[in-house]
Amino acid sequence: MQNYMDLTGKAALVTGASSGIGAATAIALARLGARVALGYFHNEEGVERVCREIASAGGAAVPIRADVRKAEEARSLVQRAAEAAGPIGILVNNAGSLVQRISIRDVTEENWDEVMDLNLKSAVICSQAAVPGMVERKEGAIINVASIAGRNGGGPGAGPYSTAKAGLIAFTKSLAKELAPHGVRVNAVSPGVIDTPFHEVFSTPEMMANFVKGIPLGRVGKPVELATVIAFLASDAASYIVGETIEVNGGQLML
Ligand code: NAI
Repeated sequence: MQNYMDLTGKAALVTGASSGIGAATAIALARLGARVALGYFHNEEGVERVCREIASAGGAAVPIRADVRKAEEARSLVQRAAEAAGPIGILVNNAGSLVQRISIRDVTEENWDEVMDLNLKSAVICSQAAVPGMVERKEGAIINVASIAGRNGGGPGAGPYSTAKAGLIAFTKSLAKELAPHGVRVNAVSPGVIDTPFHEVFSTPEMMANFVKGIPLGRVGKPVELATVIAFLASDAASYIVGETIEVNGGQLML
């Protein structure tokens, strides 16, 4: 049988690839044969670790630094990724953060803009930059990393973040409609509670224990459990999936 998950010959860009879900995704895509550009911001040590892991398995990866909150840097990230890895056929818009837990009453214009820029605008700009080449080649897959917060408003103090992620889910559908006629598929994954540096920063052990009580599978998720779904959406195994947001949450939220 044909291996529908084979990504040999494809070039991928994963944003936020120095840790967590992005790192696991970069490794999974490389294991499936893709050349991978690893977008990162501060965590140079993390991105080097991911590069080494990919290289030691015989894969190809190149780190590229950019602050994706800034449109110019996001655009240049896509361009440099294409120069380093080849024309981008797979774009994973993964970089994102809660930034801080904050009550809606305390949100300033600055807080709001930062969360929107990081979680929503970055995906729009990276997609805009990658799309012309994909359309020209009539081939491409864009996968946005949304959140369960975009469905249910999230945990405490996740107002701006959940709004941005809900926007990302709507953007996924809108872009999917626009690009499907050109052979480019756009989809999203919506993680529940995944064991990454995200929760080390934003959730106490008590909060994590409480989250687990609401998860039918009885545990939090692992980054690789997102990476495999993202790799599936990037591959020909998902060739008829368009505009979908796949929930990956151990049953915490069933739509
Ligand atoms: P993480 O903190 O390990 O990964 C976030 C990545 O985004 C990091 O690599 C970080 O360097 C990068 N990043 C942050 N600001 C950046 C900037 N200005 N420019 C470029 N890169 C920047 O956490 P995790 O969990 O792997 O997060 C990945 C995605 O998954 C995020 O979009 C997050 O919102 C989403 N998510 C995570 C959940 C979880 O439970 N861990 C739940 C739902 C969504």
